[in-house]
Amino acid sequence: MHLLLGTQTALIVSKNISEIRQARWADPALSWGLVPTMGALHAGHISLAERAAAENDKSCATIFVNPTQFAPTDDLDKYPRTLERDLEMLDAAGIDMVFTPTPAVMYPDGFGTRVLVDGVTARLEGEHRPGHFDGVTQVVSKLFNIVQPNRAYFGQKDAQQTVVLKKLVRDLNFNLDLIVCPTVREPDGLAMSSRNRYLSAEERQRATVLYQSLSQAAKMIEDGERDGETVRQMIANTVNTTPHAELIYASVASALDLSELDRISGNILISLAVLVGDTRLIDNFMIDDIKP
Ligand code: PAJ
Repeated sequence: MHLLLGTQTALIVSKNISEIRQARWADPALSWGLVPTMGALHAGHISLAERAAAENDKSCATIFVNPTQFAPTDDLDKYPRTLERDLEMLDAAGIDMVFTPTPAVMYPDGFGTRVLVDGVTARLEGEHRPGHFDGVTQVVSKLFNIVQPNRAYFGQKDAQQTVVLKKLVRDLNFNLDLIVCPTVREPDGLAMSSRNRYLSAEERQRATVLYQSLSQAAKMIEDGERDGETVRQMIANTVNTTPHAELIYASVASALDLSELDRISGNILISLAVLVGDTRLIDNFMIDDIKP
């Protein structure tokens, strides 16, 4: 087991499932928090890590760029890998253990089990990235079984992922609480993302259109607009009149099942995906208790 000397304690770092299990169960009385990530960490990930460290006796982060959630045309090989820096950031955030498996550890020869969540995986990101959530539910199920945490932490930034994973936990009776943490943003509103580093200086400036159009949509609804299509159209126009930006989808949906709303009421998720240059960005606002 590789030990990295941190400020006060030693961070346990291992690619090995039995070493992780041994450390996890060294004292069964202790509670554990889990923070799954694909690395290339930023302040958004670290907010999850800090919360897991604060709310549990022990905390484990995982760093694994999961190949099964990327399409063949996706940016798997291009995905940024910054392991040493990630480990320092997790250590500073108070994480006790980091699981850093290789693809062969997670998917050895002969591996052949899939975990498919129906319904909510078909919409939004699922519609535009077929198979993406099947890879997410597959890898997260394995991480839940390997670490067996009491609590697992995910970001609101990937809103649909949290809806899918809540259903996974409920349907398969995973014995843990799934905790959703707020989206961490740059000062100008851009949601932090590992992909932001791909933006040129000009694209970075234009990328604020996601936050701006979401803010405008929220204001329209606050001012009384209740027609879903009118809000979707406004977002589309705002994005498509921005240079270097191309709308992939704009959605005003029920926060419960992600179905598109004709009339806006109750708990809603406003979300969008935009290509800024060649970089695909997503963002969302959740608004609760809208009166019809
Ligand atoms: P990744 O994109 O690395 O994100 C790891 C976690 O950090 C996710 O729960 C994500 O929602 C959260 N996160 C990302 N940006 C955030 C931000 N700006 N504010 C708050 N939280 C943020 O999501 C994945 O990895 C993978 O699908 C994974 C769950 C690890 C399965 O492979």
